[in-house]
Amino acid sequence: MTTSRRIAVVSAGLRQPSSTRLLADRLADAAGRQFTARDVDVDLRVVELREHAHDLTNHLLSGFPSTSLERAIEAVTTADGLIAVSPIFTASYSGLFKTFFDVVDADALDGMPVLLGATGGTERHSLALEHAMRPLFTYLHAIVVPTAVYAATSDWGAEGAGDGAGATAPTGLTRRIERGAREFAELVTGREPRQAADPFAVPTPFEQLLAEN
Ligand SMILES: Cc1cc2nc3c(=O)[nH]c(=O)nc-3n(C[C@H](O)[C@H](O)[C@H](O)COP(=O)(O)O)c2cc1C
Repeated sequence: MTTSRRIAVVSAGLRQPSSTRLLADRLADAAGRQFTARDVDVDLRVVELREHAHDLTNHLLSGFPSTSLERAIEAVTTADGLIAVSPIFTASYSGLFKTFFDVVDADALDGMPVLLGATGGTERHSLALEHAMRPLFTYLHAIVVPTAVYAATSDWGAEGAGDGAGATAPTGLTRRIERGAREFAELVTGREPRQAADPFAVPTPFEQLLAEN
């Protein structure tokens, strides 16, 4: 039995440093610990969408991805599980985040476990995860884990604040990250590794093609 899984991490943050990337890294680290606890190796591939922003627009206009964008898309479509994190812009996922999933084949995420995360300025927009991001991945037939993780500016401020006596109790954000990561690892390890599509595979045997003519 294979004891390794490919995990793709997509982060759509724009700023540098990016709180979205920070959340993506925290989710990936927590998931990594969960996989290790289950004796499963992880091949982690991070896709930082700001690096592909120009290529994504060109792909929309021309219909062809650049080599680096093609590699990024392949990292996602061949993964056994996906961690997808977007900043919240105007109460929804960002345009860059949506553009990337617009150019991914609509069937490519079918049956893929997905852990969702989002960052925002206000806690009041946390439900964008549920009314915007989750339906997008449901449409793509991905299997979205029940816990989606939102980090508002105030959550980062609470990190490391401690209890006043020198101890740092886990914050609400840390607990949400751990819970989402555990659910994600359970889903991914409970499924067989996905078979990578063979680009040279002949879908219909030649004998059959000849017999039909
Ligand atoms: C154009 C724009 C729109 C935004 N709209 C919202 C919003 O509706 N709700 C919210 O909570 N934060 C909003 N924000 C704040 C960002 O979600 C927040 O700063 C995010 O963490 C930035 O991620 P980054 O650091 O990875 O770039 C907006 C920011 C920008 C630039």
